[in-house]
Amino acid sequence: TILILDFGSQYSHLITRRCRELNVYAELMPCTVLLKDISFKPKGIILSGSPYSVYDSDAPHVDPAVFELGVPILGICYGLQEIAWNLKGEVTRCDNREYGYAAIQINRFGNGDGNSTVDALFEDLGDEMQVWMSHGDQLQKLPPDFHVIGHTQTAPFAAIAHDSKPIYGIQFHPEVTHSLKGREVISRFVINICGCRTNWTMQEFIGKEIARIRDICGPKGRVIGAVSGGVDSTVAAKLMHEAIGDRFHAIMVDNGVLRLNEAKQVEHMLKENLGVNLTIVDASELFLSRLDGIDDPEQKRKIIGNTFIHVFEAEASKIDAAVNEEEKKSGEEAKGKGKIEWLLQGTLYPDVIESISFKGPSATIKTHHNVGGLLKDMKLKLIEPLRELFKDEVRALGRLLSIPEPLVKRHPFPGPGLAIRILGPVTREQVKILQQADDIYIEEIRKANLYDQISQAFAVLLPVKAVGVMGDKRTYEQVIALRAVTSEDFMTADWYVFPADVLRRISSRITNEVSGINRVTYDISSKPPATVEWL
Ligand code: XMP
Repeated sequence: TILILDFGSQYSHLITRRCRELNVYAELMPCTVLLKDISFKPKGIILSGSPYSVYDSDAPHVDPAVFELGVPILGICYGLQEIAWNLKGEVTRCDNREYGYAAIQINRFGNGDGNSTVDALFEDLGDEMQVWMSHGDQLQKLPPDFHVIGHTQTAPFAAIAHDSKPIYGIQFHPEVTHSLKGREVISRFVINICGCRTNWTMQEFIGKEIARIRDICGPKGRVIGAVSGGVDSTVAAKLMHEAIGDRFHAIMVDNGVLRLNEAKQVEHMLKENLGVNLTIVDASELFLSRLDGIDDPEQKRKIIGNTFIHVFEAEASKIDAAVNEEEKKSGEEAKGKGKIEWLLQGTLYPDVIESISFKGPSATIKTHHNVGGLLKDMKLKLIEPLRELFKDEVRALGRLLSIPEPLVKRHPFPGPGLAIRILGPVTREQVKILQQADDIYIEEIRKANLYDQISQAFAVLLPVKAVGVMGDKRTYEQVIALRAVTSEDFMTADWYVFPADVLRRISSRITNEVSGINRVTYDISSKPPATVEWL
């Protein structure tokens, strides 16, 4: 394992990604973590960049034990300055701030046979590299026993290496794709210098994770989990099923604000295709009655989140009771109060990173509804098989678990569903209108083969009325707004540029086929300043 210590750079998670792409397992932890609190011994440590300057009074610093551990260290940008700060070099704010591309000239010291520790980081990478810089500070004086292994026109110490210990610092960011040989630099460090084995593969992960789940649950343990039809919950459910079969109980709550035929499709996929032990609870009446007359987006989210918890808990108790009954009948003694001890959560690595950041979680713009609240009352222990994975790793895992490609590539769908895509109060009629419009929209996107180019597409129902004409009659009906965005991580997003004929077809079908709609508009706002969802 490579330990990456995060000083708050926007690129820190990319370092983790790059290591894993090399099939080397890497974990990101806050820079303030103490080595004595870590359960594994890393084979190497990478110090990330940071928005701070090492001389800021509140600048974050690593546990000095990092330099005593004897494993290779690579400092990137701020990480380089942190190494210098610890090992008595000098860093100053420089006049020539560098942002963007730079050419780095490589200096070599060994005899060219590649054995020198000093040369190992850039071994076989030529004499010059295009790299990406983004820094205000730079090194002014080398720490004792260090060599300069690379310089640019403005940064005389753009890359440094210790004379005999495997400690390296680089001013540029090898983790961003703009640094053309960045991947190779990371590979030199984690594979050649740290000697990591390249055995982090999804196939390997499945085997280990199934064994871990079986071990945790024991021969009888039961797990419940909510499924939504999205990628994460489907992959997590399938993995649980592979591990413990029908002792995993999936629950799908129909909250009345799902997409057209969604509950049926999820049932078909999970139960029939994937063999998962699934119960569907139709609680649409309850949700819609609680949403009655509610206009405020945050209130909608709260109501849906809380109602979800009630419904889920009630269903879980029913399953628990049924399991107890069955086991009693079959002569097995029911031990303890409940048979279900575990709750499956589809937590992904970015959520974990967010919650461990030393800066604390970022400001909440919208409260995302998840099932975290369940734990308090149900006294269930958490099981999170995806917590080490990034989204595209979950997709790769899904493919290996034979989850069909369209599901693996499905756009995200928010927990509060269509309730946050219907502006104003949510009623059955409004839900029906939006379901139909959304279904046509997505169908046409698929037909035009554009679904995979778009990160998320959906329709929004605007409860304003506009005048139109149909036949000889004047109409006065509601408006549908279409949204389609491309995005890496949904923190920022850009609106998607449709071919005009596709938009024309969609608009014509919606106004013709969906009664209650006589006008369609396309949302051309990016995030920021807009958000992806309208509420
Ligand atoms: P925003 O609207 O915040 O959306 O730009 C970013 C991504 O998050 C999804 N989203 C939600 N997901 N519960 C969810 O599970 C929510 O309350 C929620 N609100 C937004 C949104 O669909 C997009 O993918």
